[in-house]
Amino acid sequence: MTAAASHNKTPRRILVTSALPYANGAIHLGHLVEYIQTDIWVRFQKMQSNEVYYVCADDTHGTPVMLRAQSEGISPEALIERVSQEHQRDFASFLVNFDNYYSTNAPENKAYCEQIYKELRNQGLIQTKSVEQFYDPVKEMFLPDRFIKGECPKCNAKDQYGDSCEVCGATYNPTELKNAYSTVSGAAPVRKSSDHYFFKLSDPRCENFLRQWTQSEGRLQVEASRKMQEWLGEEGSGKLADWDISRDAPYFGFEIPDAPGKYFYVWLDAPVGYFASFKQLCDRIGLNADDFLRKDSTAEMIHFIGKDILYFHALFWPAMLEFSNFRTPTKVNAHGFLTVDGAKMSKSRGTFITAESYIKQGMNPEWLRYYFAAKLNASTEDLDLSFTDFSARVNSDLVGKFINIASRSAGFLVKQFEGRVLDSAMQHPVLLELRKQAEVIAGHYNDREYGKAIREIMACADHINIYVDQEKPWELAKKPEAAQQLHIACSVCLEAFRVLSLYLKPVLPQLVANAENLLGVASLNWADVNTPLSSAQALQPFKHLMQRVDQKQIDALIEANKQSLAPAASSAQSATTATATATATALPSKGAKTSASAAQGDAVSPYITIDDFAKIDLRIGLVQECKAVEGSTKLLQLTVDLGEAKPRNIFSGIAAHYKPEELVGQKVVVVANLAPRKMKFGISEGMVLCAAADDDSALAALSAHSKALAGMKIS
Ligand code: MSP
Ligand code: ZN
Repeated sequence: MTAAASHNKTPRRILVTSALPYANGAIHLGHLVEYIQTDIWVRFQKMQSNEVYYVCADDTHGTPVMLRAQSEGISPEALIERVSQEHQRDFASFLVNFDNYYSTNAPENKAYCEQIYKELRNQGLIQTKSVEQFYDPVKEMFLPDRFIKGECPKCNAKDQYGDSCEVCGATYNPTELKNAYSTVSGAAPVRKSSDHYFFKLSDPRCENFLRQWTQSEGRLQVEASRKMQEWLGEEGSGKLADWDISRDAPYFGFEIPDAPGKYFYVWLDAPVGYFASFKQLCDRIGLNADDFLRKDSTAEMIHFIGKDILYFHALFWPAMLEFSNFRTPTKVNAHGFLTVDGAKMSKSRGTFITAESYIKQGMNPEWLRYYFAAKLNASTEDLDLSFTDFSARVNSDLVGKFINIASRSAGFLVKQFEGRVLDSAMQHPVLLELRKQAEVIAGHYNDREYGKAIREIMACADHINIYVDQEKPWELAKKPEAAQQLHIACSVCLEAFRVLSLYLKPVLPQLVANAENLLGVASLNWADVNTPLSSAQALQPFKHLMQRVDQKQIDALIEANKQSLAPAASSAQSATTATATATATALPSKGAKTSASAAQGDAVSPYITIDDFAKIDLRIGLVQECKAVEGSTKLLQLTVDLGEAKPRNIFSGIAAHYKPEELVGQKVVVVANLAPRKMKFGISEGMVLCAAADDDSALAALSAHSKALAGMKIS
C-alpha cells in the first residue's frame, strides 16, 4: 500500500441525505438527477475512506396519498408499502446505494416528531390560531389548494387551479376562482374555520437565528443564501410568517400530542424522516445516532435537494432543529431541474420518462449516470437531457475514448504475455502524468463539480489515446521483433485504464466492478491510484464492457412513455377532471383568435384507460323545461328527464349562447354521475355537455339523433 494523502487525515464522519420522494408517484428521470448526484458524492467520499452514511425514505404522509389509497380501495399503509418496493427497485436499478431506505410512517419518526414538537412548545414557539379554509361539504374534509379548481377570475378559462391560470398566466387566491369546485367530489367548496397549530417563525429568536444561519459561510450556495435573504426581508420587515404545522382529520399522518383530531402537516414530519432513517440504520449496525444528531455533534450532516424545496430545508428545518436541541445541517446542496430536449418533461411528448421504463427498454443505467455527471455542477441551474447529446457523449467519450483503451490492448496482453503487465512499464511518464491528476479530480468531486471532473478525466483519456495511436499496438503485434515494445505499450494502456476506472468509479460503479474483476485487482479506493497493476496477477480475457447507445432504443423509450400515460392524479380525481373539462375541448373556434390561445396549443389531454372513461356515466337527457336564472347572466336552469323517477335540475353556464326556449324538447348529453354541486341558486344535479371554442366565442350543446331516448346510456 502506498501512503495516500487521505490516510493522514482523520476521516470525515458524514450523514448524507437525498430528499424523500413522495409515496404517490413513480421515480422518473428528474428525480434521478438528485439521487445519482448524491450517490456519486457518497461513493466518492467512501473511496476517500471517510465514514459516510447515506439515508433516504419515502415521504408517505398527506392528503394525496390518503385520497389515492381511497380511490384504489386500499389502505394508505398498503399503498405506501407497494410504492416503497417500487421506489427501492428503481433506485437499485440505477445503482443508487443507500445505506438505509425507510419510511416517514415509522415509529422512530413519530418519536422524533413528538420530541421536536414538545421542545418547541416548551420554548413557547407553538401557537394556535383559527384559520378559515376551503372545505368539501360532500367529502367532509378541508381541501388543500391543489384540490380546488374553478374558472380563472381574469380570463374565465375553466378548470384552473387555485393559485394561477395556465391559460392567461394570472395569479390569484383560491377564493377568487369563479364557480370553484372540489376536484375530490365536484362539490362547491365552502369556507370553514378550525384551530391550527403554528410554529412561530416570526419570533425574534427564530428570525435572528435564521438570518445568521442562512448567511453563515458554507451552509448554502451563494444563490440560495441570496434567495433566503430575499425571503427573510429587511430586518424587522416581519416578512417571515408563522408556519402552519397542523392539518385536520381526515389526514394520513401523525396525530399531534395533546391535540386530538389534529395531525402534523406532512412537511413537518418529512425532514424528520432523515433522522428516523438514520436511527434505524444506527440500531441495525450498532452506531450511536446521537453522536451525529445532538447539538454539539462534530459529524457533518449534508442534504441534497432540488431547488424547489429550499424553503423547507433552509428555513423551517434548521429552525425546528435549533430550538429543539438538535444539530442543524452542515450544508444544504440544491440542484436545478431536469428538462428534456430543452423543455419541461411532458407526458404528451413522451419525455416524462420513468426510471422503470428506461430500464425496461434495456438501456444501461450507467449511460444516464455518466451523462448526468458530465452535465452536473454545484449550482442550482437546470440541467438539460438532450438525447442527441446523450448518445454522442456515451458513444464517443465513454465507449470511444475510455473503453477503447482497454479493448485495444487487453487482447494482446492476454494472448502474447499470459495476461501479465511489464512491471517496469508502470512508471512510464504517460502514467505519472495521469496519476498526477488524482488530486484535481478529487477536488472536483468533493465540490460537486462533476462536469469538471469528467472533462478532466476525458482529457486524460485523450492523452492516453494519443499514446495508443502513436504506439499502434495492432501493428506492433504483427512484428515479432517489436514484442518488447508491444508489451510496454499494452501494459501502459491497461494501467492507464485502471487509473481512469478509478477516477470514474463513483459514476460507473458496475462497469468499474467488472473492470476490477478483469484486471484482477481488489475494490479500488482513491489511495490506490499509486498502486499499479502487477505482473504477479494475470488479467482475465476482456469481455465487452459497455454497449453503444442505439438511437432505436431512445425512440422506443419515448414511444413507450407516450403510451404509458397513466393519469398522475388518483383515478377518482381524474374522473372528475375529465368530466369537468369536457366542455372545454372540442370544436375549433369560429373566431380568429385560436392561434393565440394557449389552451388550443395544449393539444389533447393525456390518455385515460377505458376504465377511467367507464367511470363517467353519460346519458341522453330530454330537456323538459328551461329558464333564465334571476341574478345570473351566465346560467340557464334546465329540467332534464334522464328516464329516472324524477327529472333532474341542472344549471348550465350557456345563457350567452341559447335562449331558454331553444333548448326545450332537445335531447342533450348529460354527465349523470357528477357529484351534485351546491350553487348559489340551488343544487345542480348533473352537467350538460357542450362543445366550445377556447375563448367561448362559440358554444353548442351536444345533441342526440332522434332515435335516442331519455335515459339511454352513452358509451
Ligand atoms: N417529498 C418531498 C421532499 C421531502 S424531503 C424531506 C418532495 N418529493 S418529490 O418526490 O417531489 O421530489 C423529490 C426530489 O426530487 C426533490 O428534491 C425534487 O426537487 C427532486 N425532483 C423532482 N423532480 C425533479 C426534476 N424534474 N428535476 C430535478 N429534480 C427533481 O419534494
Ligand atoms: Zn386566466
